[in-house]
Amino acid sequence: MIKTEFYDKSPLNYIGGKYRILPQIFERFPSKIERFVDLFCGGLDVSANVKAKSVYCNDINYHVIDIYRAFQKLAVDELLNYIDDVIRKYGLTQTNQEGYLALRKHYNETRQPLDLYVLVCFSFNYQFRFNSKHEYNNPFGRERSSFNPVMRNNLIKFHKNISQFNFAAQNFKVYDCSFLTRRDFLYADPPYRIALGSYNDGKRGFEGWTLDDDLILFELLDSLNARKIKFALSNVVEHKGEINEILAEWMRKYNVHYISGNYDNSNYRSTARRNKTTEILVTNY
Ligand SMILES: C[S@@+](CC[C@H](N)C(=O)[O-])C[C@H]1O[C@@H](n2cnc3c(N)ncnc32)[C@H](O)[C@@H]1O
Repeated sequence: MIKTEFYDKSPLNYIGGKYRILPQIFERFPSKIERFVDLFCGGLDVSANVKAKSVYCNDINYHVIDIYRAFQKLAVDELLNYIDDVIRKYGLTQTNQEGYLALRKHYNETRQPLDLYVLVCFSFNYQFRFNSKHEYNNPFGRERSSFNPVMRNNLIKFHKNISQFNFAAQNFKVYDCSFLTRRDFLYADPPYRIALGSYNDGKRGFEGWTLDDDLILFELLDSLNARKIKFALSNVVEHKGEINEILAEWMRKYNVHYISGNYDNSNYRSTARRNKTTEILVTNY
């Protein structure tokens, strides 16, 4: 199996990012992909490493998509200079909360995507948290978060990897898949209804993920299958004793691959099913 270190890590440290399980996912991807669609692209761990002729990335979180578009508009040196200038101007360090809060206020007044990127780099758990007014409200990541040399390196590689990507910021329900043909491939990594991350618990200025969303997504994947277009779906079918029954039933008609190692099941022996998370990749090929 190919090791993770052969892949480029996203400089966003995105919650729900697939970096740790990329080898297991890519092992199951088609060997030749003309157009790759990442319908819930998040931090781009998957897209930034996929081999395809062209890449289409979508996420409902337009704040994140705006950051990628801003990255694309600048040469890498200009981008790094911009980030360094903001860090200098606000005196950002792992301990300067005041500087962080001043930048956060400035961002909420001016909404420059690159400022948001710098903010997130110094924020608690690198999270994209917004209130209902779409103001960024994640607290400071004291002693933990910063734009460190590892992230700088990740950003340099990432900037190159995504330079030709096509971005959209739409609800998947209205994303137009009609351009896809049999040589293309769609990857869906939606929020997991029974194990929601903070990007989509309904309290971050975006809608939560419901049973209806699952059903509409399964319908979309079925329709791709009917058009002989390949797809793969990441999901969690069991989490802490709860089972996503609708998913369990739906996936029976496709191929199901079990993924290991992304969640902490270290207490598995003693607490048995209570801590168990079963992550899967469903493919139609
Ligand atoms: C599991 S994460 C994807 C992580 C990504 N594969 C990565 O490696 O970073 C799920 C993503 O779905 C997005 N999302 C939630 N609801 C959506 C919707 N209705 N349409 C499109 N994207 C949505 C969230 O913003 C989040 O980025």
